[in-house]
Amino acid sequence: MVDLSTNTAGIWSPNPFWLASAPPANSGLQVQRAFEAGWGGAVWKTLGVAIQNVSSRFGGHTIHGVKGAGFSNIELITDRSLEVNLKEIAETKRLFPRNPIIVSLMCESEDEWRDLIKRSIDAGADGLELNFGCPHGMCERGMGSAVGQEPKLNERITSWAVRHSTVPVLVKLTPNVSDIVPHGLAAKRGGAHGVSLINTIKSIISVDIDRFVPHPRVGALSTNGGYCGAAVKPIALHMVAALAREKSFGLPISGIGGVTNWRDAVEVLLLGASTVQVCTEVMLRGYGVVDDMLDGLQEYMRAHNFESVAQIVGRAVPAFSEWGDLDLNYETVARIDATKCIGCQLCVAACHDGAHQCIHPVEGTRVPTIDEDECVGCNLCEIVCPVEGCIEMTAVDNGRVETSWNKHCQEGASIRPKKGVH
Ligand SMILES: Cc1cc2nc3c(=O)[nH]c(=O)nc-3n(C[C@H](O)[C@H](O)[C@H](O)COP(=O)(O)O)c2cc1C
Ligand code: SF4
Ligand code: SF4
Repeated sequence: MVDLSTNTAGIWSPNPFWLASAPPANSGLQVQRAFEAGWGGAVWKTLGVAIQNVSSRFGGHTIHGVKGAGFSNIELITDRSLEVNLKEIAETKRLFPRNPIIVSLMCESEDEWRDLIKRSIDAGADGLELNFGCPHGMCERGMGSAVGQEPKLNERITSWAVRHSTVPVLVKLTPNVSDIVPHGLAAKRGGAHGVSLINTIKSIISVDIDRFVPHPRVGALSTNGGYCGAAVKPIALHMVAALAREKSFGLPISGIGGVTNWRDAVEVLLLGASTVQVCTEVMLRGYGVVDDMLDGLQEYMRAHNFESVAQIVGRAVPAFSEWGDLDLNYETVARIDATKCIGCQLCVAACHDGAHQCIHPVEGTRVPTIDEDECVGCNLCEIVCPVEGCIEMTAVDNGRVETSWNKHCQEGASIRPKKGVH
């Protein structure tokens, strides 16, 4: 039996999958349908001051024919009234008492925070998420990422929220900073019980090349939006892991950004998050995407003998180290399984023009050959090969003892180029 339940900063959830604060968590009926579909929890679309949205407001990045591989928006926080939202939160909590509702909030003065927090908790919020991440519209008014980018403001507003809250407070961090760690530490100093990350990345998604206006177009103008979706997962993974391995941090993490399936979700858990939030994939494909996440996670846990999600959380963090600690003498080479090769020659082109010119066509066959003495083990051919398992990167014993750049600097350990470097 595997137990999918999780606990993030004192917020219990039947499984680690939460809707992120965004259009899929905009109303009671939506969140109720999501819970019926299997989502563990939901972070309600951000409540705050009254706003008006623009039209249009989304943009998609097509990568090699895959529409929506990246996604952007210039939407603000909720445009529905506070009263209606609070009524629907209370109703949803009454219907689904086991599923946590985390209410996302964004406002300005301490009085506004106190009032919003009290009303959210009275409506049944199991936790609060402070939106310090919105990179458009709200930051120009001194909210959103304007707070998330400034550690002193982050700490001060977090401390207000913690003072006025009787439920756990998560601080949602912006990725629009060069190093996430000081911002996580600021939230910790403010008393946050946990953090969630990432919010969206400041970006221009594309340009209408006939009208000479970036997307999404609002009449004759556009503006920078927030980038998210599958394409941002690597950035999210790095930021989650950077906080998870920071010894002075130690707060629970709710991971967000580019999660499209169970495998992505497991990666986020392995790098230190105890819950995983999803927005874009639900926007593009609906609440049903959680089926794959639930089934896949259970199968993965069975295969690895994990009994609880807590046993997965952070398992890959110790292996995330500095470049200077990597073994300079560890060596791999590419090997082709001729029985799987379809002879497409993609690896030949990639290695010749983008790597070390060591995969060669062979007369009389479409299966190329690899000159292992010249191969530097860069992975490029494996990445371009369209057949799963056809090119394997294989570790080889080159007889050299382990050393690293840091050892070289500290102890004078010798380093010398390996084969394939001319
Ligand atoms: C259309 C749209 C609206 C969003 N609105 C909010 C919001 O109101 N509050 C918030 O904290 N994040 C908001 N987000 C950010 C998401 O919650 C999430 O952090 C981000 O999209 C990354 O996750 P993803 O890659 O799964 O989409 C919004 C994202 C999108 C695409
Ligand atoms: S691993 Fe790199 S260097 Fe080696 S064969 Fe593949 S592309 Fe060429
Ligand atoms: S990319 Fe893969 S399938 Fe294509 S020729 Fe190279 S080894 Fe064969």
